[in-house]
Amino acid sequence: MISNSINQLKNEMIAWRHHIHAHPETAFEEVNTTQFIVEKLQSFGITELYTHFAPTGVVGIIKGQQEGRWIALRADIDALDIIEENNIDYCSTVRGKMHACGHDGHTAMLLGTAKYLSEHRNFVGTVVVIFQPAEENEGGARVMVENGLFEQFPIEAVYGIHNQPNMKLNHFYINHGPMMASYDVFEIKITGVGAHAAAPHLGKDTILTATQIVNSLQSIVSRNADPLSSLVVSITQIHSGDTWNVLPQKAVIRGTVRTFSAQVQDMAEQRIKQIATGIATAFDAKADVDYQRRYPATINYAKQADIAIAAANKVVGQENLVIDPLPSMGSEDFAFMLQKIPGVYVWLGAGKGANLHNPAFNFNDEVLATGVSYFVEIVNQELAIQELAN
Ligand code: NI
Repeated sequence: MISNSINQLKNEMIAWRHHIHAHPETAFEEVNTTQFIVEKLQSFGITELYTHFAPTGVVGIIKGQQEGRWIALRADIDALDIIEENNIDYCSTVRGKMHACGHDGHTAMLLGTAKYLSEHRNFVGTVVVIFQPAEENEGGARVMVENGLFEQFPIEAVYGIHNQPNMKLNHFYINHGPMMASYDVFEIKITGVGAHAAAPHLGKDTILTATQIVNSLQSIVSRNADPLSSLVVSITQIHSGDTWNVLPQKAVIRGTVRTFSAQVQDMAEQRIKQIATGIATAFDAKADVDYQRRYPATINYAKQADIAIAAANKVVGQENLVIDPLPSMGSEDFAFMLQKIPGVYVWLGAGKGANLHNPAFNFNDEVLATGVSYFVEIVNQELAIQELAN
C-alpha cells in the first residue's frame, strides 16, 4: 500500500525528475544538480547538510523524535555521455549528456523520501540521505567512503534502489547475496619488432601474437573457472597497425572481467597475465599487462535483505516480490559502501521500455511513489518508535 501522503508527493517528484532530466551532469560535475538537491532539502527543513565527502553530491541528516540508531538511504545523481534520442518536452538540454540510467528518478525518489521523513519524523534515531555523485565509471561511492562518510556518522546499514526497465512494473527484486558483479579492466601492451610486410622473417609480429593471446584468453572461462561459478572475460578493443605494408611494432588489447567471487577474480587476473606473457614469449615478443580493479561485486547482506523484503512486502505485497533473482553481471559502485557497512541494493521493476544506457531510455515516473514508500518502510522497520518500549 502506498499512503495518501506519499501519493500526494508524486506530482512534485515528477517535476523535480523532469528538471534534473533536462539538465544532466556527469561524474563529479554535478554542480547544478547538487545545488538543486541542497535547495530542496533546505526547503524541507533539513538543514544539517554536508558536501565535503566528494567534489559534488550531498549528505543530509534527518533526526527522528529521539536519538537512536543511524541508517542511510542512498541515491546516485549522475548522468551519462550519450546523445538523447527522446522526443519529450523535458529532453536533455546538454547535447551529448543524458540521464540514461534513471539516476534522475533515483534522485527525485530520495528527495521525496527526505521531504516525507522531515515532515513526519515518526521514527527513533537518524536517517542519513546520501546523494552520491559519479556512479558511472568514476566510483563516487568509493570517494565518499574514503573521505570518511561512515567514520563521521555511526551508520549501521545503507539501502539503495535501482530502477530496472523490462522487469515487472513496481515489483521488487531482492537478493540475499550477490546482486551485481565486480568490474575489472585490463590492458595488454605487446611489443615486437616492426618490419616490412614483405619481409616478416625480419620482424616479431605483434598482430599474430595479439590474436593468439585473444584466442587463449577465452580458455580462462571455459577451462580455468569452475563451471558452477560466474565469470566473464571480454576483449573489447584491439589496436595495431596503420597501413598495408608494415608489420607494426606494437599492439594493444583491452578488455573487462566480471565475477562475484574474489577467488575467481584473483584467478582471472593471474591467468590473464600468465597467458599474455607466456604467449608473447613464445612468439619472441613482449607483453606488459596492466590489470585494474574498478568496482568490487555488490553483495547484499542477508539480514538487511530480510528487512528489505519485509519493507517491500508492505508496499507491493508478497505477489510483487521476486526473492533471490539471478544476479546481473553488470556492476555498481554501491559495492564500495557494502564493503564498509551492511546493507542491501534492490531492483525496482519499471515495466516495458528502452534499456538502461540506451539513447531512448526514460525513467518511468510510475515507480517514484513506490520507491518512496519502500524507503519509508525501511525506516519503519529499522527505526520503529515501538523500540522505545523495549
Ligand atoms: Ni545506474
